[in-house]
Amino acid sequence: MNNLIRFDNVTFSYGSRNVLENIDLEVREGEFLAVLGYNGSGKSTLAKLINGILVPTSGKVYVDGMDTSDENMLAEIRKTAGMVFQNPDNQIVATIVEEDIAFAPENLGLDPAEIRVRVDDAIKAVGLEKHIKDAPHKLSGGQKQRVAIAGVLAMQPRCIILDEPTAMLDPKGRSLVMGVIERLNREKGITIILITHFMEEAALADRIMILSDGRVAVNDTPKKVFSDRDRMISLGLEVPPVTELTLNLIRNGLPLEKDTIHPEELIDSLLKMKEEEA
Ligand SMILES: Nc1ncnc2c1ncn2[C@@H]1O[C@H](COP(=O)(O)OP(=O)(O)OP(=O)(O)O)[C@@H](O)[C@H]1O
Ligand SMILES: [Mg+2]
Repeated sequence: MNNLIRFDNVTFSYGSRNVLENIDLEVREGEFLAVLGYNGSGKSTLAKLINGILVPTSGKVYVDGMDTSDENMLAEIRKTAGMVFQNPDNQIVATIVEEDIAFAPENLGLDPAEIRVRVDDAIKAVGLEKHIKDAPHKLSGGQKQRVAIAGVLAMQPRCIILDEPTAMLDPKGRSLVMGVIERLNREKGITIILITHFMEEAALADRIMILSDGRVAVNDTPKKVFSDRDRMISLGLEVPPVTELTLNLIRNGLPLEKDTIHPEELIDSLLKMKEEEA
């Protein structure tokens, strides 16, 4: 299996304090990894180490085999692994949506016909075809964040790292952005690294990594991770709302599975119980 991203015993410090310590991490091509951890646990630092905004104090980070501390590789690394940040307003650079999305590929010096194709593909992938000529500042937060994602997509990256992309969005914007992220992963095979504080978003990933005190505390599937509620609480986190609800129903005597992490699973189980009663 091809590892697109690899951390090899990475330690990082701002000044004398280690923010990340001895991190080993491998992300396979096509994988969807969610990264969790309480505030200040080092998640954003980890993201910035992937595309060379930061370089390790010791150890190595590789993106498709390229060493992020090799400055000659930085442009290629950033083409391979694109970043989306929390605040959509800070990521918009142009006054028309299509120009904003074309910005990065134009800087690559691609020819205009190729740029046109990439911009149209990216706009379609995020579902904003109707807004191609709009002014970004008139869009909702969720739409702006999808413009930012499209801008990264136009670089045709193999991996996208998203650092709390839904934190500033309303529920509708959040669900549309998450829909886009899931589709890019499932349909286009783009490797996703999603940093989030929303447990229900992490439940959609193939794997969850939890940072605590600068170390990897947990690295497992969402079902395994969320079925240990006590451990999540001890890490300063929680389980998805649907898991919390299911555990409550179990305490009240309903025969449900404690590793229920998707709303559809609970609905199915309840409907099955109803059928069996009838
Ligand atoms: N530029 C900096 N200089 C010094 N310390 C920093 C800097 N950036 C972050 N830190 C510290 O490093 C630690 C990890 O920060 P980081 O931003 O990676 O955490 P995080 O997990 O992303 O937090 P949050 O959930 O709040 O986004 C924190 O203690 C933070 O205060
Ligand atoms: Mg952060």
